[in-house]
Amino acid sequence: MKELSRRNYFKKSVLSVGSLLLAAKGVRANSCQLTPDQTEGPFYPIEDQIDKDSNLTRLTGSQKQAKGQVIIMAGVVSDENCRPVENALVEIWQACETGKYNHPSDPNPAQLDPDFQYWGRSVTNSRGEYSFKTIRPGHYRATSSWIRPAHIHLKVHRRGYEELTTQVYFKDDPYNSNDRILNSLTKVEQRNVIVDFKSSERDGIRLDETLKRGEFNITIRGI
Ligand SMILES: [Fe+2]
Repeated sequence: MKELSRRNYFKKSVLSVGSLLLAAKGVRANSCQLTPDQTEGPFYPIEDQIDKDSNLTRLTGSQKQAKGQVIIMAGVVSDENCRPVENALVEIWQACETGKYNHPSDPNPAQLDPDFQYWGRSVTNSRGEYSFKTIRPGHYRATSSWIRPAHIHLKVHRRGYEELTTQVYFKDDPYNSNDRILNSLTKVEQRNVIVDFKSSERDGIRLDETLKRGEFNITIRGI
């Protein structure tokens, strides 16, 4: 896909997610429970990279796309009174399709994906909205008896608010039920970090089978 048309495609994806979010705001108004903290884990990025935008599926200047199921993760950052938080920096980092992190401490022998941008940033707009285009991460073994479900690590920073570090999960992942980190949360808290990524539909017709979208709204605490 040419660079320009790719940009337009991404812009359209983000816009339609934005519309979806606006439609959901009535629901959001009664559901601003603080997003639960989850452990940062050992693979927070320590090396700078040239490309750190919100599209992790393609590196700047490359025509190749990262391997894996492409997803859009988008949502609204609010405070505990459901007021949108503008200019919040949302960072994500994650494994590629093989379950490998681009981090020197990752012992996983799986291959790195040279076309995947392993971490990225998005800054919320005046409506508190952020979005990322990325891929569904692979599973990896945390211990000999524990396989981690697909998850995306996330941090939110904004002056005047407590920093949030958490992890986002995929609703249909069979490893969720036995995950020690996810299960350290209450059932109510778990619902706040498990996202249903699905194909978008209009009038009952699936628009794009290859692109799944998930809404992850975030609530942070003011200091
Ligand atoms: Fe992880």
